[in-house]
Amino acid sequence: MATLFIGQTKVFLPETDSTNSYAIELLKNVNAIEGIVVHTNKQTQGKGQRGNGWIAEPEQNATLSIILRPDFLSSKKAFYLSKITALALHDVLTEILNDSQFDIKIKWPNDILVNHKKIAGVLIENSILNDSLQWCVVGIGLNINQEDFGALKQATSIRLLNKKTCNVERVIDTLFMHFEKWYLRLKRSEFAVIDETYLTHLFGTNALNTFEKDGKQFRATVKGVNETGLLLLETESKEIRTFDVKDVTFIYPASA
Ligand code: BTN
Repeated sequence: MATLFIGQTKVFLPETDSTNSYAIELLKNVNAIEGIVVHTNKQTQGKGQRGNGWIAEPEQNATLSIILRPDFLSSKKAFYLSKITALALHDVLTEILNDSQFDIKIKWPNDILVNHKKIAGVLIENSILNDSLQWCVVGIGLNINQEDFGALKQATSIRLLNKKTCNVERVIDTLFMHFEKWYLRLKRSEFAVIDETYLTHLFGTNALNTFEKDGKQFRATVKGVNETGLLLLETESKEIRTFDVKDVTFIYPASA
């Protein structure tokens, strides 16, 4: 595999509750090195953003966690880990879907949408020591061959989009390659290229979308994110407002 360290050591579990939880246990109990990936075929209690769960059909998808030790990054810049993960996922999907009919976007902070439907989610958990990141677990769920999402009408997978069954291992190896490329850019402090590329792929920058805060809906256009990862929105009255991920909900756009 064409990586230096991401995924060079894999902990494969036929079944586990959550790869993120397993990776955190590894960090606490063993001196787990950077690049180790915990990967499972069957995740029984997958964790999602905002305390939600993550459900993925066994053996059809990527459910994995990457262990990092980004001690070069100050805690103020932790959002860059979200950015590079979203960029890596964007690159994998661009490479695999390879067709202009697919509109691949990053929905802040790090969901990936294809043609307005969610194909991947990311849950990052980390530990901060003396203002720098001691360890970080990047949990990734990427829908690959799953075709039925039940009541989740806004979900999709690679197979639903390109009508082809994908080799899950191959997709995961491609993801490791792109992840490592972006992680090394971050390590080299190439913030400008990360910021620009993230903004280019950010969903909602060209049109008004619906958001919800404190039970109230409002329309706004995405202007970008600030240094700490807060979302910048321009409201209909042209006011620029900043939001934390726990305060604002992006109301999913209707399917294209
Ligand atoms: C989201 O809500 O969009 C984030 C979903 C993250 C799911 C992945 S699957 C692998 C890893 N282990 C977990 O328990 N969650 C993440």
